[in-house]
Amino acid sequence: MSPRLDLALQSGLSLSQPLTVLGPTLASDLSALPRETQMVQPFKPFHDHFANQGFAVVPEADDPCQDAIVILPRAKALARSMVHQACARASGVVVVDGAKTDGVDSLLKDIRKRVAVEGPISKAHGKIFWFQSDRQAFADWAAPEHQTADGFQTAPGVFSADGIDPASALLLAALPAKLGACVADLGAGWGYLSAGLLQTPGLKALHLVEADHTALNCAQTNVADPRAQFHWADAVTWRASEPIDTVVMNPPFHTGRSAEPELGQGFIRSAAKNLTRNGSLWMVANRHLPYEAALTDAFSHVEEVTGDNRFKVFHASRPRR
Ligand SMILES: C[S@@+](CC[C@H](N)C(=O)[O-])C[C@H]1O[C@@H](n2cnc3c(N)ncnc32)[C@H](O)[C@@H]1O
Repeated sequence: MSPRLDLALQSGLSLSQPLTVLGPTLASDLSALPRETQMVQPFKPFHDHFANQGFAVVPEADDPCQDAIVILPRAKALARSMVHQACARASGVVVVDGAKTDGVDSLLKDIRKRVAVEGPISKAHGKIFWFQSDRQAFADWAAPEHQTADGFQTAPGVFSADGIDPASALLLAALPAKLGACVADLGAGWGYLSAGLLQTPGLKALHLVEADHTALNCAQTNVADPRAQFHWADAVTWRASEPIDTVVMNPPFHTGRSAEPELGQGFIRSAAKNLTRNGSLWMVANRHLPYEAALTDAFSHVEEVTGDNRFKVFHASRPRR
């Protein structure tokens, strides 16, 4: 059991069903909670982790519950919207559990200005505290119904929520005029690259593969086109239902705080597996990330086509079988 939750339960916190946990991650050991507990997790790999443990997991939910636990994310706007959501749904207690590095101290300070807080308990570089659910007190923390940036729909906590990512813009500008009939965007986010890909002549099918359900919802608004197919999936294991001519991607390099280049390397292998024999991969990456070996392992031809001191754009072709 998570050490902070364990301590809170020993210190008088009592939780009743229906209980909802918002945003549990792989770092949250919640295995001691009853399996009827609902986990709300929009990120597919984490979602599947809790589903495999036997919990009822959903990517989003707004049905009422008795008590709610918020596992604090790093993005402040998302953290606030989760506290609002917990209060909108729970009629009993709302618990907040977070790491110092994710801003739990400043959130606690802000919450204390609005409601009476119990706890807080400090443990394992973080804090846990709880309060009686109060819908009115956090009404202004609701996620905006229509959040836009650079003319696109985004949402709190999604990648590049405040506007177009410069690396993705560099990649889009570097693409050739034609990419073939069937194209995939791995880690499509809210759909910036895909919206550009739809302009390429001859494109008949575009697969947007994205693990974050919230981002994919935004993409469905930003990429409203009958040729687009949306897949809520882990791009590392996703397999297309048809041969793909070109994969375009700006792969993620972390799910937690530190860099995980093996994630992008998994995307590269997945791209190679999904492509036709003459297929191409176009990808952008932060310059310091070590992707060259994974690229030359998976493709016969690899070239850095452009870049600057921050980013590099690769074209890789002829996937090795
Ligand atoms: C660097 S962002 C690029 C987003 C978008 N293509 C753009 O250019 O704005 C990487 C995206 O990959 C998504 N992601 C992370 N892990 C993933 C996984 N295992 N499978 C699919 N998508 C994933 C993230 O949610 C994020 O939206």
